[in-house]
Amino acid sequence: MNHPYYRPRRLRRTAALRRLVRETELNVNDFLLPFFVVEGEGVKVPVESMPGVYRYSVDRLLEELAEVLELGLPGILLFGVTERKDPQGSEAWNKEGVVPRAVRAVKERYPQLVVATDVCLCSYTDHGHCGVVEGGKILNDPTLPLLSRVAVTHAEAGADLVAPSDMMDGRVSAIREALDAAGFTEVGIMAYSAKYASAFYGPFREAAESAPRFGDRRSYQMDPANAVEALWEVELDLEEGADIVMVKPALAYLDVIRQVKDTFNRPVAAYNVSGEYAMIKAAAKLGWLDEKAAVLEALTAIKRAGADVIISYHAREAARWLAE
Ligand code: PBG
Repeated sequence: MNHPYYRPRRLRRTAALRRLVRETELNVNDFLLPFFVVEGEGVKVPVESMPGVYRYSVDRLLEELAEVLELGLPGILLFGVTERKDPQGSEAWNKEGVVPRAVRAVKERYPQLVVATDVCLCSYTDHGHCGVVEGGKILNDPTLPLLSRVAVTHAEAGADLVAPSDMMDGRVSAIREALDAAGFTEVGIMAYSAKYASAFYGPFREAAESAPRFGDRRSYQMDPANAVEALWEVELDLEEGADIVMVKPALAYLDVIRQVKDTFNRPVAAYNVSGEYAMIKAAAKLGWLDEKAAVLEALTAIKRAGADVIISYHAREAARWLAE
Protein backbone atom coordinates (compact mmCIF):
# COMPACT_ATOMS: atom_id res chain seq x y z
CA MET A 1 0.00 0.00 0.00
CA ASN A 2 1.60 3.26 -1.04
CA HIS A 3 -1.08 5.56 0.32
CA PRO A 4 -0.58 5.95 4.10
CA TYR A 5 -3.99 5.08 5.48
CA TYR A 6 -2.65 4.88 8.99
CA ARG A 7 -1.13 8.12 10.22
CA PRO A 8 0.06 7.94 13.85
CA ARG A 9 1.16 11.55 13.43
CA ARG A 10 -2.49 12.69 13.53
CA LEU A 11 -2.52 12.37 17.29
CA ARG A 12 0.77 14.22 17.67
CA ARG A 13 -0.34 17.35 15.81
CA THR A 14 -1.11 19.64 18.75
CA ALA A 15 -0.07 19.81 22.38
CA ALA A 16 -3.65 19.15 23.50
CA LEU A 17 -3.95 16.03 21.31
CA ARG A 18 -0.65 14.76 22.65
CA ARG A 19 -1.87 15.42 26.17
CA LEU A 20 -5.09 13.53 25.45
CA VAL A 21 -3.36 10.32 24.41
CA ARG A 22 -0.39 10.44 26.77
CA GLU A 23 0.11 7.07 28.44
CA THR A 24 2.44 8.01 31.26
CA GLU A 25 2.28 11.12 33.38
CA LEU A 26 4.77 11.89 36.11
CA ASN A 27 3.23 13.06 39.33
CA VAL A 28 4.75 14.56 42.46
CA ASN A 29 3.23 11.62 44.38
CA ASP A 30 5.56 9.20 42.61
CA PHE A 31 8.70 10.26 44.41
CA LEU A 32 10.81 9.65 47.46
CA LEU A 33 13.73 12.05 47.93
CA PRO A 34 16.92 10.65 49.53
CA PHE A 35 18.85 12.60 52.18
CA PHE A 36 22.25 12.06 53.81
CA VAL A 37 22.32 12.93 57.50
CA VAL A 38 25.48 13.69 59.51
CA GLU A 39 26.37 14.51 63.11
CA GLY A 40 26.66 18.06 64.36
CA GLU A 41 24.66 21.24 63.98
CA GLY A 42 24.34 23.76 61.21
CA VAL A 43 26.04 21.40 58.76
CA LYS A 44 25.34 21.49 55.02
CA VAL A 45 28.25 20.00 53.09
CA PRO A 46 28.07 19.54 49.31
CA VAL A 47 28.69 16.11 47.79
CA GLU A 48 31.21 16.94 45.05
CA SER A 49 30.11 14.30 42.58
CA MET A 50 26.40 15.07 43.04
CA PRO A 51 25.82 18.77 42.39
CA GLY A 52 22.77 19.96 44.33
CA VAL A 53 23.04 17.15 46.92
CA TYR A 54 24.33 17.87 50.43
CA ARG A 55 24.93 16.14 53.71
CA TYR A 56 22.83 17.78 56.40
CA SER A 57 22.85 17.77 60.18
CA VAL A 58 19.42 17.10 61.67
CA ASP A 59 18.61 20.80 62.24
CA ARG A 60 19.45 21.72 58.62
CA LEU A 61 17.52 18.73 57.35
CA LEU A 62 14.39 20.04 59.08
CA GLU A 63 14.85 23.39 57.31
CA GLU A 64 15.11 21.66 53.93
CA LEU A 65 11.96 19.67 54.53
CA ALA A 66 9.78 22.76 54.63
CA GLU A 67 10.20 23.05 50.84
CA VAL A 68 9.85 19.32 50.31
CA LEU A 69 6.41 19.44 51.95
CA GLU A 70 5.42 22.61 50.17
CA LEU A 71 6.18 20.95 46.84
CA GLY A 72 3.92 18.08 47.84
CA LEU A 73 6.52 15.32 47.83
CA PRO A 74 5.13 12.41 49.87
CA GLY A 75 8.31 11.30 51.56
CA ILE A 76 12.03 10.96 52.08
CA LEU A 77 14.61 8.17 52.38
CA LEU A 78 17.28 8.71 55.04
CA PHE A 79 20.90 7.56 55.02
CA GLY A 80 23.21 8.00 58.00
CA VAL A 81 26.82 9.06 57.58
CA THR A 82 29.16 8.74 60.54
CA GLU A 83 32.81 8.57 61.57
CA ARG A 84 31.91 6.04 64.26
CA LYS A 85 32.75 2.81 62.50
CA ASP A 86 33.65 -0.60 63.91
CA PRO A 87 33.77 -4.17 62.54
CA GLN A 88 30.09 -4.84 63.37
CA GLY A 89 28.70 -1.44 62.48
CA SER A 90 27.22 -1.04 65.97
CA GLU A 91 26.59 2.67 65.47
CA ALA A 92 23.82 1.60 63.08
CA TRP A 93 21.62 0.51 66.01
CA ASN A 94 22.58 3.32 68.37
CA LYS A 95 19.28 4.93 69.39
CA GLU A 96 21.09 8.27 69.57
CA GLY A 97 22.71 7.79 66.16
CA VAL A 98 22.06 10.24 63.33
CA VAL A 99 19.25 8.32 61.67
CA PRO A 100 17.09 7.65 64.76
CA ARG A 101 17.59 11.26 65.86
CA ALA A 102 16.65 12.51 62.41
CA VAL A 103 13.56 10.28 62.23
CA ARG A 104 12.30 11.46 65.63
CA ALA A 105 12.88 15.11 64.75
CA VAL A 106 11.25 14.83 61.32
CA LYS A 107 8.26 12.90 62.63
CA GLU A 108 7.74 15.41 65.41
CA ARG A 109 7.82 18.40 63.05
CA TYR A 110 6.25 16.83 59.95
CA PRO A 111 4.22 13.78 61.00
CA GLN A 112 2.47 13.64 57.63
CA LEU A 113 5.71 12.95 55.71
CA VAL A 114 6.55 9.34 54.80
CA VAL A 115 9.90 8.58 56.40
CA ALA A 116 11.81 5.61 55.01
CA THR A 117 15.23 4.60 56.31
CA ASP A 118 18.00 2.70 54.60
CA VAL A 119 18.86 -0.37 56.66
CA CYS A 120 22.43 -1.46 56.00
CA LEU A 121 25.79 -1.68 57.75
CA CYS A 122 28.22 -0.43 55.09
CA SER A 123 28.43 3.19 56.23
CA TYR A 124 28.88 2.01 59.84
CA THR A 125 31.46 -0.79 59.41
CA ASP A 126 35.19 -0.03 59.32
CA HIS A 127 35.62 -2.44 56.37
CA GLY A 128 32.75 -0.84 54.43
CA HIS A 129 30.90 -4.09 53.68
CA CYS A 130 27.18 -4.58 54.19
CA GLY A 131 27.57 -7.56 56.53
CA VAL A 132 29.73 -9.24 59.15
CA VAL A 133 33.20 -10.05 57.79
CA GLU A 134 35.29 -13.04 58.78
CA GLY A 135 38.43 -14.21 57.01
CA GLY A 136 37.73 -11.91 54.08
CA LYS A 137 34.21 -13.33 53.64
CA ILE A 138 30.90 -11.52 54.07
CA LEU A 139 28.85 -13.79 56.32
CA ASN A 140 25.14 -14.03 55.67
CA ASP A 141 23.35 -15.47 58.69
CA PRO A 142 25.34 -13.69 61.42
CA THR A 143 24.41 -10.41 59.70
CA LEU A 144 20.65 -10.97 59.98
CA PRO A 145 20.24 -10.21 63.71
CA LEU A 146 22.27 -7.03 63.28
CA LEU A 147 20.09 -5.78 60.43
CA SER A 148 17.00 -6.66 62.46
CA ARG A 149 18.31 -4.56 65.31
CA VAL A 150 18.87 -1.61 62.98
CA ALA A 151 15.35 -1.94 61.59
CA VAL A 152 13.77 -2.09 65.07
CA THR A 153 15.81 0.95 66.14
CA HIS A 154 14.48 2.90 63.16
CA ALA A 155 10.93 1.71 63.84
CA GLU A 156 11.19 2.80 67.48
CA ALA A 157 12.23 6.24 66.26
CA GLY A 158 9.09 6.41 64.13
CA ALA A 159 10.05 5.28 60.62
CA ASP A 160 7.12 4.36 58.36
CA LEU A 161 9.20 2.13 56.10
CA VAL A 162 12.50 0.38 56.62
CA ALA A 163 14.50 -0.34 53.49
CA PRO A 164 17.10 -3.11 53.76
CA SER A 165 19.77 -2.58 51.08
CA ASP A 166 22.35 -5.15 52.17
CA MET A 167 21.34 -8.09 49.92
CA MET A 168 21.80 -10.77 52.59
CA ASP A 169 19.54 -13.78 51.98
CA GLY A 170 16.61 -14.04 54.37
CA ARG A 171 16.84 -10.56 55.78
CA VAL A 172 13.29 -9.57 54.93
CA SER A 173 11.77 -12.36 57.04
CA ALA A 174 14.30 -11.77 59.83
CA ILE A 175 13.41 -8.08 59.90
CA ARG A 176 9.66 -8.78 59.66
CA GLU A 177 9.81 -11.14 62.63
CA ALA A 178 11.88 -8.72 64.69
CA LEU A 179 9.56 -5.80 63.91
CA ASP A 180 6.47 -7.82 64.77
CA ALA A 181 8.00 -9.17 67.97
CA ALA A 182 8.73 -5.58 69.02
CA GLY A 183 5.15 -4.54 68.28
CA PHE A 184 5.84 -2.74 64.99
CA THR A 185 3.40 -4.71 62.87
CA GLU A 186 2.48 -1.58 60.93
CA VAL A 187 5.98 -0.58 59.89
CA GLY A 188 6.47 -1.58 56.26
CA ILE A 189 9.44 -3.11 54.50
CA MET A 190 10.62 -1.65 51.21
CA ALA A 191 13.17 -4.26 50.19
CA TYR A 192 16.04 -3.56 47.83
CA SER A 193 15.18 -6.88 46.21
CA ALA A 194 16.98 -6.78 42.87
CA LYS A 195 20.01 -4.72 43.77
CA TYR A 196 22.82 -5.04 41.27
CA ALA A 197 26.58 -4.80 41.80
CA SER A 198 26.64 -1.58 39.83
CA ALA A 199 29.30 0.94 38.88
CA PHE A 200 26.62 3.61 39.19
CA TYR A 201 26.84 3.75 43.01
CA GLY A 202 30.20 5.56 42.87
CA PRO A 203 29.03 9.05 43.90
CA PHE A 204 26.85 7.62 46.69
CA ARG A 205 29.85 5.94 48.25
CA GLU A 206 31.56 9.32 48.41
CA ALA A 207 28.43 10.83 49.99
CA ALA A 208 27.93 8.04 52.52
CA GLU A 209 31.62 7.15 53.03
CA SER A 210 30.57 3.56 52.46
CA ALA A 211 33.00 2.21 49.86
CA PRO A 212 34.31 -1.28 50.70
CA ARG A 213 37.90 -1.13 51.99
CA PHE A 214 38.75 -4.46 50.34
CA GLY A 215 37.24 -6.36 47.43
CA ASP A 216 33.83 -5.44 46.07
CA ARG A 217 30.17 -6.32 46.63
CA ARG A 218 29.81 -8.96 43.93
CA SER A 219 29.41 -11.85 46.40
CA TYR A 220 26.12 -10.35 47.60
CA GLN A 221 24.82 -7.84 45.04
CA MET A 222 23.49 -9.17 41.73
CA ASP A 223 25.32 -9.66 38.45
CA PRO A 224 24.13 -6.96 35.99
CA ALA A 225 23.78 -9.67 33.36
CA ASN A 226 20.89 -11.41 35.16
CA ALA A 227 17.15 -10.70 34.96
CA VAL A 228 15.60 -14.13 35.62
CA GLU A 229 17.45 -14.15 38.91
CA ALA A 230 15.94 -10.76 39.75
CA LEU A 231 12.47 -12.32 39.57
CA TRP A 232 13.57 -14.99 42.01
CA GLU A 233 14.97 -12.38 44.40
CA VAL A 234 11.69 -10.46 44.22
CA GLU A 235 9.63 -13.61 44.71
CA LEU A 236 11.61 -14.51 47.83
CA ASP A 237 11.27 -11.02 49.29
CA LEU A 238 7.52 -11.02 48.68
CA GLU A 239 7.20 -14.45 50.31
CA GLU A 240 9.21 -13.16 53.24
CA GLY A 241 6.83 -10.26 53.69
CA ALA A 242 8.18 -7.30 51.72
CA ASP A 243 5.53 -4.61 51.18
CA ILE A 244 7.37 -2.84 48.37
CA VAL A 245 10.04 -4.47 46.20
CA MET A 246 12.80 -2.45 44.60
CA VAL A 247 14.91 -2.63 41.49
CA LYS A 248 18.19 -0.74 41.66
CA PRO A 249 19.65 0.99 39.68
CA ALA A 250 16.76 2.12 37.49
CA LEU A 251 17.84 3.38 34.08
CA ALA A 252 20.07 0.49 33.07
CA TYR A 253 17.46 -1.97 34.41
CA LEU A 254 14.17 -0.79 32.92
CA ASP A 255 13.56 -4.28 31.53
CA VAL A 256 13.83 -5.71 35.04
CA ILE A 257 11.36 -3.15 36.43
CA ARG A 258 8.89 -4.10 33.70
CA GLN A 259 9.28 -7.83 34.31
CA VAL A 260 8.89 -7.45 38.06
CA LYS A 261 5.74 -5.36 37.63
CA ASP A 262 4.23 -7.74 35.06
CA THR A 263 5.12 -10.89 36.98
CA PHE A 264 4.02 -9.89 40.49
CA ASN A 265 1.83 -6.79 40.12
CA ARG A 266 2.80 -5.52 43.55
CA PRO A 267 4.17 -2.09 44.50
CA VAL A 268 7.52 -1.65 42.76
CA ALA A 269 10.10 0.97 43.62
CA ALA A 270 12.96 1.93 41.32
CA TYR A 271 16.09 3.63 42.58
CA ASN A 272 17.45 6.23 40.18
CA VAL A 273 20.91 6.05 41.72
CA SER A 274 23.71 8.51 42.35
CA GLY A 275 25.69 7.71 39.19
CA GLU A 276 22.60 8.13 37.03
CA TYR A 277 22.05 11.52 38.66
CA ALA A 278 25.71 12.51 38.27
CA MET A 279 25.77 11.65 34.55
CA ILE A 280 22.96 14.04 33.72
CA LYS A 281 24.29 16.74 36.03
CA ALA A 282 27.78 16.52 34.51
CA ALA A 283 26.57 16.63 30.92
CA ALA A 284 24.22 19.52 31.73
CA LYS A 285 27.06 21.45 33.37
CA LEU A 286 29.08 21.10 30.18
CA GLY A 287 26.13 22.30 28.14
CA TRP A 288 25.82 18.92 26.45
CA LEU A 289 22.25 18.18 27.58
CA ASP A 290 19.11 20.13 28.34
CA GLU A 291 18.90 19.16 32.00
CA LYS A 292 15.18 19.61 32.59
CA ALA A 293 14.20 17.72 29.44
CA ALA A 294 16.70 14.93 30.13
CA VAL A 295 15.62 14.49 33.74
CA LEU A 296 11.91 14.43 32.95
CA GLU A 297 12.50 11.99 30.10
CA ALA A 298 14.54 9.65 32.32
CA LEU A 299 11.98 9.77 35.14
CA THR A 300 9.09 9.23 32.72
CA ALA A 301 10.90 6.19 31.33
CA ILE A 302 11.23 4.73 34.83
CA LYS A 303 7.53 5.18 35.43
CA ARG A 304 6.63 3.86 31.97
CA ALA A 305 8.68 0.74 32.77
CA GLY A 306 6.34 0.05 35.67
CA ALA A 307 7.72 1.78 38.77
CA ASP A 308 5.12 2.88 41.32
CA VAL A 309 7.69 4.61 43.51
CA ILE A 310 10.69 6.48 42.11
CA ILE A 311 13.54 7.18 44.47
CA SER A 312 15.53 10.00 42.92
CA TYR A 313 17.90 12.82 43.83
CA HIS A 314 16.14 14.73 41.05
CA ALA A 315 12.81 14.50 42.91
CA ARG A 316 12.84 18.01 44.32
CA GLU A 317 13.64 19.69 40.99
CA ALA A 318 11.23 17.40 39.19
CA ALA A 319 8.49 18.41 41.61
CA ARG A 320 9.24 22.08 40.93
CA TRP A 321 9.11 21.51 37.17
CA LEU A 322 5.90 19.51 37.39
CA ALA A 323 4.28 22.35 39.33
CA GLU A 324 5.16 24.94 36.67
C1 PBG B 1 24.07 0.77 50.84
C2 PBG B 1 23.47 1.49 49.69
C3 PBG B 1 24.08 1.88 48.49
C4 PBG B 1 23.15 2.64 47.80
C5 PBG B 1 21.99 2.66 48.57
N1 PBG B 1 22.21 1.92 49.73
C6 PBG B 1 25.46 1.72 47.98
C7 PBG B 1 26.06 0.40 47.78
O1 PBG B 1 25.41 -0.65 47.79
O2 PBG B 1 27.28 0.40 47.63
C8 PBG B 1 23.37 3.32 46.47
C9 PBG B 1 22.53 4.51 46.21
C10 PBG B 1 23.00 5.38 45.11
O3 PBG B 1 24.00 5.11 44.42
O4 PBG B 1 22.36 6.42 44.91
N2 PBG B 1 24.16 -0.59 50.73
